[in-house]
Amino acid sequence: MKHSAKVIRTVRDLRQVTAGWRSDGKTIALVPTMGALHRGHLALVERARKSADKVVVSIFINPTQFAPHEDLARYPRDEAGDLAKLQDAQADIVWSPGVDEMYPAGFSTGVKAGSAAADLEGAFRPHHFDGVATVCCKLFNQVTPDCAVFGEKDYQQLAVLRQLVDDLNMPLTLVAAPTVRERDGLALSSRNAYLSERERQIAPALYAVITDVAAKAATGAPFTVITADATAGLAEAGFTKVDYVEIRDAQTLSASVSPGKSMRVLAAAWLGKTRLIDNVAVGTQD
Ligand code: PAF
Repeated sequence: MKHSAKVIRTVRDLRQVTAGWRSDGKTIALVPTMGALHRGHLALVERARKSADKVVVSIFINPTQFAPHEDLARYPRDEAGDLAKLQDAQADIVWSPGVDEMYPAGFSTGVKAGSAAADLEGAFRPHHFDGVATVCCKLFNQVTPDCAVFGEKDYQQLAVLRQLVDDLNMPLTLVAAPTVRERDGLALSSRNAYLSERERQIAPALYAVITDVAAKAATGAPFTVITADATAGLAEAGFTKVDYVEIRDAQTLSASVSPGKSMRVLAAAWLGKTRLIDNVAVGTQD
């Protein structure tokens, strides 16, 4: 029999289903998404299926994590396509609330993201992580999952959410899944759909450059020189603006990296109107 994922749009209906699962002793994994699903998301669903009895995938384009000048209006939307993919991926519930269900009239409480949000993306998108932390807090309370699966593609988001869950004693585990890439190295992202043909050809240089940074960082070369060279390399490859290339402590994202601690290279750069982010580990295969 073909698997059927149930689409739910109200918290009330969601709670009814999850309460039934709980009384049957089932565990629940949540995969939060903003839709426009690609192979990277489907890998998260696959990981979730290995982690719990039941899988809820949320699709909600969260307005509170976009600044007024950002791409909320043009963010790719394809609910029919997403639902077909989630049937095939064997999700049990697609949790797809409207904006009024998530943020009803009078909604005014928010979560302030912790120190992991302070710079990198936080410097360029000042309220972004508060919006992410608030909606994830709501999603965790709505779905009550045992675990939630997030991609390492948004590495700082993962660090911010780990801090949220620890700091607020939230009763769930966060599971990190590796970045899924195109054959040429470009990290899968819903925003890749914005790239022109020419920009798409340039885009894999981001991964190539940060991989090179990671190799050089592992040799002990001075970080300021490595990252300045990388910034120049991205401009030379055709990136129109580089927001940052940084080597950070892999856990805290602090710029002070102590010997023996694992490190991560994180970067953000623009191709025309499209901003790409990526990251790789230093010293291990990504
Ligand atoms: O990574 C995303 O797609 C979003 O930031 C998330 C976690 C679904 C919150 O809106």
